[in-house]
Amino acid sequence: MKLWGGRFTKEENQLVHNFNESLSFDQRFYHEDIQGSKAHVTMLAKQGIVSEEDKEAILEGLKGIEEDIESGKLEFTKEHEDIHSFVEAHLINRIGEAGKRLHTGRSRNDQVALDMKLYCRGEVLEINSLTKRLMEELLKRMEENLETYMPGFTHLQKAQPVTLAHHLGAYFEMFYRDRLRLHDLYERMNYCPLGSGALAGTTYPLDREYTASLLEFYGPTLNSMDSVSDRDYVIELLSVLSLIAMHLSRFSEEIIIWNSNEYGFVEIDDAYSTGSSIMPQKKNPDIAELVRGKAGRVYGALVSMLTTMKGIPLAYNKDIQEDKELTFDAIDTVKGCLALFTGMLSTITFHKEVMESSAKKGFTNATDAADYLVKHGVAFRDAHGIIGQMVLYCIEKDKAIEELSMEEFQAISPVFDNDIYEAVSLKTCVEKRNTIGAPGPEAMKKVVELCRERLKEN
Ligand code: ARG
Repeated sequence: MKLWGGRFTKEENQLVHNFNESLSFDQRFYHEDIQGSKAHVTMLAKQGIVSEEDKEAILEGLKGIEEDIESGKLEFTKEHEDIHSFVEAHLINRIGEAGKRLHTGRSRNDQVALDMKLYCRGEVLEINSLTKRLMEELLKRMEENLETYMPGFTHLQKAQPVTLAHHLGAYFEMFYRDRLRLHDLYERMNYCPLGSGALAGTTYPLDREYTASLLEFYGPTLNSMDSVSDRDYVIELLSVLSLIAMHLSRFSEEIIIWNSNEYGFVEIDDAYSTGSSIMPQKKNPDIAELVRGKAGRVYGALVSMLTTMKGIPLAYNKDIQEDKELTFDAIDTVKGCLALFTGMLSTITFHKEVMESSAKKGFTNATDAADYLVKHGVAFRDAHGIIGQMVLYCIEKDKAIEELSMEEFQAISPVFDNDIYEAVSLKTCVEKRNTIGAPGPEAMKKVVELCRERLKEN
């Protein structure tokens, strides 16, 4: 059914209909559309714009439509342009005259602005809780690995020793910031556009505060032209989703590296790996690779939406219909990535011994050896040079710093004494780094406590 047939003389061309329609994708928010209509008609009746009787009939009709959609009895057939016309047509079909009064004081422009907002608001909450789930898993793994030593890298070169808890804690911080962003976004977006009409409000005495409160918004939006054409919150959501995807991608990249034969730091569970059709020995980290790969399409959605919006004069223009498919895709993609990544993390095996022995190789304690000299009166720049020479010597002899004999140490610098062995042990190197934010177990224990507190926030 067409909502706007009255002014037209020619039948709509099929190609035009197909190009114009959005029911094939906006059917996704049928629930929000019906929820919005229920609030609208409740407000219309309170204001005496429709009768109590009509309101009851409309609410009943909408309830039936929702139930029938959910049971599969009512299908989204192609002749309808969008979810708004679909619901209205079926309502009129079911309850007759009263159904025709639902759209009083409303336009599809404020209707779709509401539906999209309600839908995104729900998804913000879901993505928030999926991210929290992942952080709970991270925290668990952090607590188990406060003293699991591993090399910390810069430029993907071994740099200084850290712990696995510390490394995982870096991701905890990233996802925590993502949750704060979702929270901010919720606060900013939670204002109700319904009642803005096509662009200039309506002449009916609507109670917009009331509609907003029925739908659990903080209040009504304050400019009707902005309200029907604002999709900032969609862009903000896509930007948070892009950040989450980016963080997941970085984490996946590390897991892929750690899972390689060369590193052997972790083993991804069979359930999250796949085999090769030709090479029988292979166990590939496909899930991590896919999570890494999917960041691209989420960024794509963000750039598409920014581009779509940049040329839109006030107020509503049909271009805005393009907000849906790519946003839905980005939401589904990130939700899938979060869930799978959490599953992968909860079943992964960390090979602690491999990590520790890797930290011992590669001179990750060189800075600590230099600090030892500094503590014994050598200027840092000189100490840096001396340890540089020492590393060269070790490479030549194929030895770690702590494997040098006292004679060898003293040949390099007479300042060295027996306590150098303790000073450059992995345990000391990590334990001494105890300022807040550093990997030392004492500092990390405090951080873990704070992380636990943060997980109590909704
Ligand atoms: N399907 C449209 C959208 O998604 C609904 C609004 C239609 N409004 C209009 N004036 N044609 O944006």
